This record gives sequence, structure tokens and C-alpha cells, in this order.
Amino acid sequence: MGETILEMKQIDKSFPGVHALDHVDFNVRRGEVHALMGENGAGKSTLMKVLTGIYTKDSGTITFEGKEVEFHNAREAQDAGVIIVHQELNMVGDLTVAQNIFLGREPKKGFGIDDKKMIEDSKALFERLKIEIDPRMKMSDLTVGKQQMCEIAKAISHNAKVIIFDEPSAALTEKEIEDLFVIIRDLRAQDIGCVYISHRMDEIKVITDRVTVMRDGTYVGTLITADSTKEDIINMMVGRVIYEDPKTHSMCPPDAPVVLKVENLNAGKMVKNVSFELHKGEILGFSGLMGAGRTETARALFGADPKQSGTIYINGKEVDIKSPQDAVKYGIGYLSEDRKRYGVVVRRSIAENTTMACLENYMSGVLINKGAEKKVAQDYVDQLATKTPSVDQLVVNLSGGNQQKVVIAKWLCKNCDILIFDEPTRGIDVGAKNEIYKLMNKLASEGKSIIMISSEMTEILRMSDRVIVMCEGEITGDIDIAEATQENIMDKATRNID
Ligand SMILES: Nc1ncnc2c1ncn2[C@@H]1O[C@H](COP(=O)(O)OP(=O)(O)OP(=O)(O)O)[C@@H](O)[C@H]1O
Ligand SMILES: [Mg+2]
Repeated sequence: MGETILEMKQIDKSFPGVHALDHVDFNVRRGEVHALMGENGAGKSTLMKVLTGIYTKDSGTITFEGKEVEFHNAREAQDAGVIIVHQELNMVGDLTVAQNIFLGREPKKGFGIDDKKMIEDSKALFERLKIEIDPRMKMSDLTVGKQQMCEIAKAISHNAKVIIFDEPSAALTEKEIEDLFVIIRDLRAQDIGCVYISHRMDEIKVITDRVTVMRDGTYVGTLITADSTKEDIINMMVGRVIYEDPKTHSMCPPDAPVVLKVENLNAGKMVKNVSFELHKGEILGFSGLMGAGRTETARALFGADPKQSGTIYINGKEVDIKSPQDAVKYGIGYLSEDRKRYGVVVRRSIAENTTMACLENYMSGVLINKGAEKKVAQDYVDQLATKTPSVDQLVVNLSGGNQQKVVIAKWLCKNCDILIFDEPTRGIDVGAKNEIYKLMNKLASEGKSIIMISSEMTEILRMSDRVIVMCEGEITGDIDIAEATQENIMDKATRNID
């Protein structure tokens, strides 16, 4: 770790009804990876947005390379070498990968853009980072994980002195995270200061040198990572210790009826002859690497993508699901991994989003019963501990993790019998994660059936009654939780690859 390159002092920032930052201190040294931690809504992203000129601070000072600075927008920060990789993806879907990476600084040829150079430079960049993406592909055709890797590559392609990673790993699988860590170690070796925001404790221990913890918009303290335990950090974040024990046996009764049966489902390139059964009251974990076909299976099942063949039975009866509307009619809810694209309407309030999938229950004649809508929304805000001044708040103003809670509320409100949770706790802090786990267990014990797609091994082992493993579009394992281990899951997850 080198000298301090960046120092934020007594940063204060308020939004209407929210004191997001209350005189926060934070600094970064050259060649360190500095974790910034705290519960959802603690103020991490806001602090980093103040730093990079996206938000204007109310008071406080920022010193960069010995001089007081004030960046007025992200561009100014970027030109000075302070670069942020955002929590929410913000690439332009209709442009190619290369166009996105060089957006606003395209290489010129005559009066036009030098497409060839742009593609070659992108290729070189990906090669250097050992990322396998074709720069000519349209952004919207990439998986969320791949899009995230593009954002990271783009950040690195600038001449950075400080890089902020705001929950980069939330959209990545274990393998991609390993790749990311190789990149980050390389940046550190080049004396670049990295800020790393994540809710995953294991990552913090592996990749960071120091940890700063925030709570409710205030600075709590800074620790040397090597000298502190996971429990120390969690305790600082939430003021109590939380244990993460794996499940030892299935909670689903052995004679529970089959509520959903999928037979030889084929869809697109990533779903090949998928067959499985889901029982009443069961939490069925879907494990696998990114690109294993888990989301594609869920989407085909839900009617969001067309299927080529296969039969679906609900409570023993064959059903024809052609659209998400059909799926919802049969009592299936799908909590998507990509909340921005499918989950919430960010320009609407929490209350409106909560009742969106079941508005018919909140109508009085032709009008929406706003009182009832607000009441149910408030119930879920309380139950999930969503941090907001009121249910009238627009979702766009919530922190990332709190937006995810609104998506969960929306499907819970719908009261579906079969719930597909695709990466349900992505970007959710340890305390709130625990609340969501409790809620899932409660739903299962009440007889709801849950498919939980997760790339986090600890989550699979802690929540599932049974684990389905997928690899390259096929099911390669079906393991009772009593027998499941990290090793036998990983073994099946990579079976078709080697
Ligand atoms: N543009 C905005 N308008 C109103 N309130 C905002 C705005 N941006 C952030 N907030 C509020 O400021 C607080 C801090 O939010 P922030 O996004 O910094 O949290 P975070 O620590 O990054 O959380 P997460 O882990 O969920 O990403 C939250 O209460 C949030 O709702
Ligand atoms: Mg955030």
C-alpha cells in the first residue's frame, strides 16, 4: 500500500427526506484495494457518486493527488483518472460492444468513425484482460455477467488512477469473479487505488487490503482486512453477528405431491431436454456456472421465451404456457435476475410497483384503491426492511438492494403457488439477506414451492432442499441437500466442459 491518493472529508449529502451522507470520511491509497461496506441504503453508492461528480455534495472536501478538487460530472472525474463502474448496468443495448466501450471517444478516420480500429482496440483490450467477448456483438445480446465484464473493461481502458467497483460481482458467477480478481490484482500491482463495494463477505477477505464500514449514512470505522474476521465486519455493519450455516437435511416432507413437472423441455440453444419435478413446499436450488442455461430454462418455463418442445404439468395436468400472462394465470411468479429489464418500473413509486402484477385485487370499480395499495406496500416494506422514507418514493431513488426488495414484494403480493427466484439476493446486504431467507423458508413451510437459481454456493447449500445442477443446457445432477457439497456440485457443474 502506498501513500494516500484520495481523501474525502466530512462529506454531507441530503435528498428530500433522506440524509444519505452525514459527514463521512474516506480515503484511498495507491496500490490498495479498499472495501466499502454497509447495509442496503447505507450510502456507499452515494458517496462514490459524490466523488465522481454525479451528485453534488452539500459540504465537505475532496483532495486528489494533493489538490482539492470538485468534479462536476463523471467525465471530469474520468479525465482526472477517477473512474466508476456502476452498480446498475448502463451500457446502450442497441450499440455493439466496441461502440459502447469507445462511446464519446471514438477513433476517427477522415470525417467518420474508424470502426475497424475500434473493434481491434476492443479485441486487444479483451485479450489483455483474458475476457472472451466478440466486440461486434450487440450489447443487449450479452448476458448480464458479460455486460458487466464490458463495463469493467471500459473502465480499465481509461488511464485510471482510482477505480471504483460498485458491486461488480453481483452479476458475475464464481468463475467470472475469479477472472475479475486477477484483473484487480493486476491494477493493484500498477499502483492504482481500487474501491471495492460488495455484500459478499468471502470476497472481501480474499481481495481487499482495508475495509471501511458505513451505517445509515455515517462513517463507522476502517479496519485492516487481514487483522479482522468476517464477524468483526458484519458486527460493525449491522450491530449483531449473523451465522451462515448450511442446511443439513430437506425440510420438504418425503410424500409432498409434485406441483410442477417439466418433461424434455427444449428451448433455444441453452435448454436441452430438461426434465425435473418440483414438490409442494420445496425449495429447489438450481446451481451451475454462468451460461449453464438456468435462466433460459426459467424463462422458457415462464413463457418469456419460446420453447421448441417439451411438456409442462401443473398439479398433474398438462398446461400450455405461451406467455408470461399464461404462466401467471397458472400461479407461477418469476423474479428475474435482471431487475431493470423485467423487474420494476423505476419511474413509478414503490406502492405502484408492489401491486403491479396483481392490480385487479386493488381496484374499486375502474379506479385503483390507493389506500389499500399503500397499505400492502407498507406491509412489505416493513417485512423486508426496505429502506425508504415512504411507499410513495420512486423506485429509481432507492439503493440497488432496496430496488431488489421491491421486486420481491411485487411477486409476493401476487400470491403465486410456484415462485421462481432468479438470483434473489444479488446485491442484498447480509442482514436483509437473512430476512429474505427467512421469508423464503416461511413461504415454503406454508406450502409454496420455490425454484431458486443462484450462483452463490453458500446460498445454494443454505437454502435448498434439493439441488439441480446444470451444465451447458443440460441437467447433470439432482442431489438431495443431505448429500450436497460444494465439491460434488462443482463437479457436476463442469461435467460437460472438460
Ligand atoms: N437520487 C436519489 N434521490 C433520493 N434518494 C436517494 C437518491 N440516491 C440515493 N438515495 C437514498 O440515499 C440512501 C443511500 O443510498 P445508496 O444508494 O448510497 O445506498 P448503498 O449503500 O449503495 O446501498 P446498496 O447496498 O443497496 O446499493 C438511500 O436511502 C437511498 O434511497
Ligand atoms: Mg449501492
